[in-house]
Amino acid sequence: MNHSTRYTRTAIILHWLIAIGLIFMFALGWFMTDLPREGAKSSSYDLFDLGIYTWQLAEEVTPRTFYFNLHKSVGITLLALIAFRVLWRFTHRPPALPASLAAWEKRLAELAHKLLYVLMVVMPVSGLIMGLYSKYGVKWFGIDILPGLDDKGIRETFLTVHEWVGVIFALLIILHIAGAFKHKLIDKDETLKRMSLR
Ligand code: HEM
Repeated sequence: MNHSTRYTRTAIILHWLIAIGLIFMFALGWFMTDLPREGAKSSSYDLFDLGIYTWQLAEEVTPRTFYFNLHKSVGITLLALIAFRVLWRFTHRPPALPASLAAWEKRLAELAHKLLYVLMVVMPVSGLIMGLYSKYGVKWFGIDILPGLDDKGIRETFLTVHEWVGVIFALLIILHIAGAFKHKLIDKDETLKRMSLR
C-alpha cells in the first residue's frame, strides 16, 4: 500500500489514542453517575477495584467525587488531543476512499466522519461548560482550571446536551466500527489498513 492510500502516522496515532480515550470516557461517564452521593470518603482509590493502580489523593473525597474529577481530567486531556487532531485534519488531506466503494458507501462514510469530528468537539466542550456552571468548577488532576459559577439553569441545559449528544455519539461510533468490520470481514478490502501503522 503506498502513502497516498494511507493516513499519516500522526493521524493514525491520534485516531487510536482518542478512540481508546473516548471508550474509557463513556464507560466512566455511565459508571460514575450511578454512584451514590453519600459514599464513605477516602484519600486512596484502587482504580475500578481492579488491583492494578491505587491513586493517592491529598484530601479525602467520596467515590463519586473521585470518579467525577477523573472524568473531567481525562476529558480535558482528550479535548487537547482532539483540538490537535482537528488542526491536523485541516492541514493534511486524508487519502481518497478506496475506488471499490459504492457511491452510497462513500457518502455515508464521509458524512459519518464529519459528524464524528463535530461530536468529538461538542462532547468535551459541553462537559466543560457544565463543570463551569456547577458549584464545584473544574480541576485538571488536582489543578484548578475553572471556577464554579453555580448556575443551575445553564448547568442543566448542558447536562442535557452532554447526555443526548453522548447517546447519538455512542450510536455513531457503533456504526463506524460496524463499517470497519464490514470492510474487513465481508468486503475483505484494504480499508482498515489505511488506519494501521503497518
Ligand atoms: C471527551 C469526551 C467525553 C465523553 C465521551 C463523556 C461522556 C460522558 C457520559 C457517557 C456521561 C454520562 C451521562 C449520563 O448520565 O447519561 C458523562 C457525564 C458527565 N460528564 Fe462527560 N464526557 C466527556 C467529557 C467531559 C468533560 C471534558 C467534562 C468536564 C470537564 C465532563 C463532565 C461530565 C460531568 C460533570 C458528568 C456528570 C453529569 C451529571 O450527572 O451531573 N465530561 N460524560
